[in-house]
This record gives sequence, structure tokens and C-alpha cells, in this order.
Amino acid sequence: MNTLELDIVSPSIYANPALLHERYERYRTDAPVAWINQEPYRPFWALTRHADIVEIEKQNTLFINEPRQNLVPREVEDRTLAALGKRTAAVRTMIDMDEPDHRKYRNVAQSWFLGSGVTRFHGKVEEICAAWIEKMKDCGPECDFASDIANYVPLAVIMCILGLPEKDMPFVLKSTQQLFGASDSDMKDENDDYGVTVFHNLMDYLGQLVAQRRQNPTDDLASVIANGMVDGAPMAMLETLSYLLITATAGHETTSSALAGGMLAFMQNPEQMKKIVAQPDLWDKGADEIVRWVTPLRHMMRTATQDYVLQSQTIRAGDSIGLMYLSANRDPAVFTNPYEFNVERPASRHLAFGIGAHFCLGRLLALTEIRTFFKKLLPQLALIELAGEPQFAQSNFIGTLKKLPIRYRFR
Ligand code: HEM
Repeated sequence: MNTLELDIVSPSIYANPALLHERYERYRTDAPVAWINQEPYRPFWALTRHADIVEIEKQNTLFINEPRQNLVPREVEDRTLAALGKRTAAVRTMIDMDEPDHRKYRNVAQSWFLGSGVTRFHGKVEEICAAWIEKMKDCGPECDFASDIANYVPLAVIMCILGLPEKDMPFVLKSTQQLFGASDSDMKDENDDYGVTVFHNLMDYLGQLVAQRRQNPTDDLASVIANGMVDGAPMAMLETLSYLLITATAGHETTSSALAGGMLAFMQNPEQMKKIVAQPDLWDKGADEIVRWVTPLRHMMRTATQDYVLQSQTIRAGDSIGLMYLSANRDPAVFTNPYEFNVERPASRHLAFGIGAHFCLGRLLALTEIRTFFKKLLPQLALIELAGEPQFAQSNFIGTLKKLPIRYRFR
């Protein structure tokens, strides 16, 4: 089995992007389909090239999601297996599903996400971005952009589209950070048991929301989900709660990560910031380039249902496969000058939103938020610079900046 003795899975490596990218490059060149057997994880095949990830993701009946969606320590998987009879968490989101269920459940909110809903809430996204830019003005001339601003904009948007009151923001923020940033000790509650407590509290909270929206439906996304039908019957409670959970969590840390990472990219590439401020029609490409550059979701996993040969390596039925998106998004076979942040990059084929059946449902919303926020903010800035060392979270799943100290002046 092809492998390299270079760690690309420990959460700590993800806090050191330069080292990580150096290692990814070695894998892409020397072991693009590599067998990784490193504790505390069960072994898996790591795919680091763009083309190989596309080949696997597009065959979603051969390579399925259900048994294993992301890297979780073996000990946690075993404990869940003992308690629930399966290795993944006590939820059933569309990310855990395969065909035919996946398609049926995705359809419940797909038209909201791909058109009417996002368009209807566009004005609200504008208002939320404007309000947080005002807050940034108030806390100037310095702030920690990651924890003071970027964390809150996507959360405020999710609270708004789900129709949740603003006062509950601290609770939802803490819950999603602990569930998804749990491998970074700074983001984990010392008293919490691998997120079990936080998970139950969040499910209780969402349960109350479902009851309210079933009784009094409104025009928000929570009402679409709470009253969703599958095969002509109302969705069961587990699937309904899971749906809300995935919406609240998948759209929060990922988009915060893109905002913080985008801000850092602009500070490190001031000529790109100047260019996009001067040519606002570049924003469609620019927002997409931010997402490629940051690639907030570092990997997803699939499981082979039959033997399959990829790059001369035999993947056996039952083997897990890690789709290393961050590596794919620096693959020189697809991207010219991949290590350059370029707001004019033509029609990007990046994999930050995945590809195929599970392609991110929130892409349109995320790009709207990123574009709206920066398009409003950047022209107002007379000065923006780093006011300290940026710090990346130790997480091999959702990668984000824990700290981004900035100094700035508005015009
Ligand atoms: C920059 C921000 C975002 C990034 C980078 C991102 C990335 C991803 C990725 C990589 C996947 C898995 C794709 C696959 O397995 O092929 C995914 C799935 C998903 N995302 Fe996003 N996402 C973002 C924002 C959002 C937002 C704002 C929402 C909703 C509020 C959202 C909702 C979802 C859902 C529901 C899925 C599951 C789709 C399925 O399994 O069919 N995402 N996202």
C-alpha cells in the first residue's frame, strides 16, 4: 500500500498552513492515493489530487456516506458504536444518508436554498452585514476580526433564516463551536464529554422550535423543515431535528472561516483588495476565490462498497476514503499558480463545496454573505493591517482562524 511517513491528519498540523501545504504537495506528487494508518484514527485512504476526488465523489452509489463522514478518534467512534449500534453520531442528517433517502430528504429544502429562500432573505443579509460593519466601527481601531466579527455574521444570518431570536445567539454559537471545533482545546468545554452534553442541549432547543413551527408555520426555513414531507408523510422527529442541526452548524463555522480567512488573504495581498474595490464586478469571482483559498471544510469521507482500483492502488470494499479538499484546491493540474490568491481567477473548479450528490446546499447563501460583507466593508476602509499574529484552530475538519488581530481606520 502506497504511503508516506508524513502526518497530514493531526489537528495540530492544521494550525500550521505552510507546513501542511508542503506535505500535501508531497502526497499529490508521490502518493496521491495513500494509506494512512495513524492513531487515534481508524485507517483510511487519503486522496490529495483534484481529479481523484472528483472521480470518487461522482460515483455516490459505489462510494457512500453513511458509515463514516469525517475523521473522528477511534475511541469516540467505538463508544458511539457501543451506545447506538453505529459509529456516527445520534443524528440522521442528509450528510449521513445515501440514495434513495438522501435525494428525498435533500428535496425538502433544496428549492428554498437554490432560489426563493435565499433571494427573499437577501435584504436581511444586507442589513446583518451593515450592522456588523457598524459594530466593527464601534470597537475600532483594533479588534479580533475572527472572534468579534466573522464568528457572528453567518450566525446572525442563520438565526434570521431559521427565525430564531437574537438573544439565543450566544447559546447557538457556543454549541456549534464545541461540536465542530472540538479538537481544538481552546474551543472545547473542559466539563463536556466529546460534545455529548452540548449536543443534547442543542437538540432540546431545536425540538422546541419544531413544535412551535408545526403549530404556527411562518415564512422561515425552520417552517419548511419542521413541516417537511417525505414519501407523502411528515418527516420523523429524528430526521427533522437532524435537518435543523445540519443547517445551523454546516452554515456557521464554514462561512465564518471564509470571512476570517478572506480578510487575512486581503491583508496579505493588498493589490488584490485594491483591484476588487476598483472593479466591484469582480465580486462573483472574488467571493469564490476566497472559498477556494480558505477551503473551510478540510475533508469529507466516503466508504467503498466494492473493490476499486485508483492510481494503481486497490481500494477494498469497506475501506474508508478521505477526500482532502484543501489539497485538491492547490492542485497545479487544475489551478494555474495555485498558491496565488487571485480575485480574477477564471471560472474556478474548486472543491470547497464538494461535488456530486452531496454538493453543498448552502453554497448560494454562503457566497451571498461573503460577497455582501466584503463589498460593503472594503471600500469604507482607509487602513487595515495585522495587529498581531493570526492563529489557526487545531482542527482537521472545519479549519478556521481562532484569532485575527487587526488594526483599521474607516474613511
Ligand atoms: C463557505 C461556506 C461553506 C462551505 C465551504 C461548505 C462546504 C460544504 C461541503 C464541503 C459539503 C459536503 C459536500 C460533499 O460531501 O460533496 C457541504 C454540505 C452541506 N452544506 Fe455546506 N458549506 C458552506 C456553507 C453552508 C451554508 C451557509 C449552509 C446552510 C445554511 C450549508 C449547508 C450544507 C448542507 C445542508 C450540506 C449537506 C448536503 C448534502 O449532503 O446533500 N453549507 N458543505
